[in-house]
Amino acid sequence: MNQERMSCESPEIVLSVRHLSKFFGINRAAARNMLHEGAEKDEILRETGVTVAIDDVSFDVERGKIFALIGPSGSGKSTVVRCINMLQHPTSGEIIFEGRDVVRMNTRELHDLRRSKISMVFQSFGLMSHRDVLGNVTYGPEVRGVDKNERERMAMEMISLVGLEGWERKSIGDLSGGMKQRVGIARALCNNPDLLLMDEPFSALDPLARRDMQFELLSIQKKLEKTIVFITHDIDEAFKMGDTVGIMRNGRIEQLGTPKDLMLSPANEHVREFLDGVDRTKILSVRHIMIKPSCLVREQGDPSTAIREMSENDVSSAYVIGRGMEFVGVVTLGGALQARKDRLSSVSSVIIRDVSTVEQDTMISDIISVASDTPFPLAVIDDRGRLAGIVSRAAILSNMS
Ligand SMILES: Nc1ncnc2c1ncn2[C@@H]1O[C@H](COP(=O)(O)OP(=O)(O)O)[C@@H](O)[C@H]1O
Ligand SMILES: [Mg+2]
Repeated sequence: MNQERMSCESPEIVLSVRHLSKFFGINRAAARNMLHEGAEKDEILRETGVTVAIDDVSFDVERGKIFALIGPSGSGKSTVVRCINMLQHPTSGEIIFEGRDVVRMNTRELHDLRRSKISMVFQSFGLMSHRDVLGNVTYGPEVRGVDKNERERMAMEMISLVGLEGWERKSIGDLSGGMKQRVGIARALCNNPDLLLMDEPFSALDPLARRDMQFELLSIQKKLEKTIVFITHDIDEAFKMGDTVGIMRNGRIEQLGTPKDLMLSPANEHVREFLDGVDRTKILSVRHIMIKPSCLVREQGDPSTAIREMSENDVSSAYVIGRGMEFVGVVTLGGALQARKDRLSSVSSVIIRDVSTVEQDTMISDIISVASDTPFPLAVIDDRGRLAGIVSRAAILSNMS
């Protein structure tokens, strides 16, 4: 029943992890009782000898999306991915992959699943050092019995996709860390899996190689539209890679959401702490920090009205809009006073029209330099050119870390 409902839904959920728990140790019943009574992981381990590696973890992964799971070391991330392909047998819960619970699969079905449906990329690369690059990448199809020409053709395609063309005959020992992980990715992709599990794939790389690989993986994902569960302990990486992010702590998921969701409404203190060092300007867009302008003036409005508006709102400039609410420019108090003195019927001729505008979906990081160059708060316009809000320099600064 559950499965029917899911297959009718769009977007398509490839993987649905439901109430997944994994306890290591003998006395699991006692551990479960303590959990029900609200005991913490440390206390349970002390009293029962059982490690609660994960407890009641649930999340969905949409086809073609990257789900990033982030948490400190020991928070249960690897256990989650190992349960997904049943390298670990869950203590309880369901793992519905393409409509079927992998926990209930028999050995042969699991074999098939790991060979052709779910591939894994490890932090430690897990390559075979006695084989060259090509030999590593062809391994999956070879085991599946694909003939030599065909598997080499597939492998060469993946090798070129990860940027290792010309390196196919090199031995693994000759490669840098970043290149090894490219081989790891090519090997995983060569199985043409429906789901890619990546357990801290870039954590062993130096920062430069790591950034390269993040970029590379994102562009591969764009091309192949793979569904990926991506584990990391780095929040910037999680936010860069993940369409959705799950924040883990002590075996539980503290919060699930898009990077924006998490930034805008962290569920608790732990999540907030986690987000502390993150550059908000790269995650939030202008719409998240814009405010309604307190003072609006019509293009054809008379100078006295403009002056009164500004003094009532205690501001020295106002945003001017046209008949269709479209953004026209800015009028200063000085300009309006001059217009009144000159007995002009409207503020039209004193409007400063050459004002920078930004769009609502622009990242905050992209407006920092514009904002520092303009004397007024930035005007934010919607897709029809209407004034949607304004962004003050203070609002930008307060979001920079
Ligand atoms: N095979 C195992 N036996 C006993 N405890 C384990 C085993 N694997 C993991 N754990 C424990 O489960 C918890 C979660 O581990 P893990 O999933 O590896 O966390 P992470 O990947 O987030 O660092 C840790 O406390 C770890 O010590
Ligand atoms: Mg781990």
